[in-house]
Amino acid sequence: MERLPGFRDFYPEPLPANEAWSCDLRQHIFARWRETARRYGFREYDGPPLEPLELYTTKSGAEIVSQLFNFQDKGGRDVSMRPEMTPTVARMIATAERAYKKPVRWFSIPQLFRYEKQQKGRLREHFQLNCDLFGETDPAADAEVLALLIDGLRSLGLTAADFVIRLSSRQAWQGFFHGRGGDPARAQEFYQVIDKIERERDEVTAERLRSVGIDLADVRAFIAAGEPTPDLARVLADLSARGLAEFARIDYGVIRGLAYYTGIVFEAFDRKGEFRAIAGGGRYDDLVKLVSGGKADLPALGFGMGDVVLAELLKSRGLVPSFAGAVDVVVLVEDEAMRAESIGLVQRLREDGRAVEFALVPTKGDKQFKRALELGARVTLRVQSTPTGPTVLVKSLADRIQREVAMADSVAACRP
Ligand code: HAM
Repeated sequence: MERLPGFRDFYPEPLPANEAWSCDLRQHIFARWRETARRYGFREYDGPPLEPLELYTTKSGAEIVSQLFNFQDKGGRDVSMRPEMTPTVARMIATAERAYKKPVRWFSIPQLFRYEKQQKGRLREHFQLNCDLFGETDPAADAEVLALLIDGLRSLGLTAADFVIRLSSRQAWQGFFHGRGGDPARAQEFYQVIDKIERERDEVTAERLRSVGIDLADVRAFIAAGEPTPDLARVLADLSARGLAEFARIDYGVIRGLAYYTGIVFEAFDRKGEFRAIAGGGRYDDLVKLVSGGKADLPALGFGMGDVVLAELLKSRGLVPSFAGAVDVVVLVEDEAMRAESIGLVQRLREDGRAVEFALVPTKGDKQFKRALELGARVTLRVQSTPTGPTVLVKSLADRIQREVAMADSVAACRP
């Protein structure tokens, strides 16, 4: 049986094939994400992977809706696998807002599902770090979330030579559109054309812009000028004060496809432009109100960073660490008469926090030792019988030095 297209199997290392996905790398990425979110005071939450279809059809925008994994459940409800986390978290905060001090800083690492055409950097499921901040309109909050995004990427070893955040603003584009007499009812349509500008042929873009009364040359000049709005100027100054200015630049070529953004928007890309976006986000000050039918109203902003493009980028920059050494200690059972004592020792070592393996069935001594080397173990232990009772031979595999210790001291002898 084959797996479905666009879905992944994650294997422990060493990988069975070059193109296989590594569960160790996934854990490495998640660990850095969690650690960075913690440093910024963000708390972890989660929601259901299956949601009412309506959560997305009214909130997310046409592109994501066309990519939904949706169906009718056995109770006749229209449901969808979650394609993104933002509507879920907006609903959660709207319901529980009163229980939390503002601003609320939350993160999550959901698996998301989009029925997209499978291509480089785009699959039908991916994991996404979502960091969102609720209850603050000041651009200081935008800078804080951007700094978190930058540090999340830096924690994986990426530098300003590897990636850049392209900063833009829905308000800037709104000002542009209204300033040229654009019909407010068609603003979303206009944003969609701008969102596609880098991927679409110029003739097509020009035609679409003409239909909303806008000239392509005018759009190009606006992007080239890249004049920061007052909010963006504040964000740049804040990032500068943190020593992070080199990680971001104004780029109005970004506008974001999702419908709910209201203010500053941004995307992270690799500097060489080889990959799709690593992360994207922005301010969505009206979504909580929309999702709660007006019961709650909180300004909000955040980003999502996917694991697919990120893993490709880390591989291409040689930033994937070696994942050997999952086992710390191997207990060699060379004398079957000592098996019960050996198993007792394995148990005590594990209770002391060591990662321990041993041969489950009688196995040749040299085979057991070879396996310890393959596992990248730090130490081997061997229980031996002596006239005064069992003792333990402790061998450090780095220097192959062996010493004999009393059974009672053997657990302490293995502590790193
Ligand atoms: P998004 O731009 O749709 O934003 O996704 C964010 C990131 O998730 C993308 O930059 C990309 O790395 C990754 N991603 C998206 N779709 C796929 C896919 N099919 N395969 C692999 N990776 C993918 C959002 O989802 C917003 N909800 C983010 C957000 C949070 N905005 C505010 N808060």
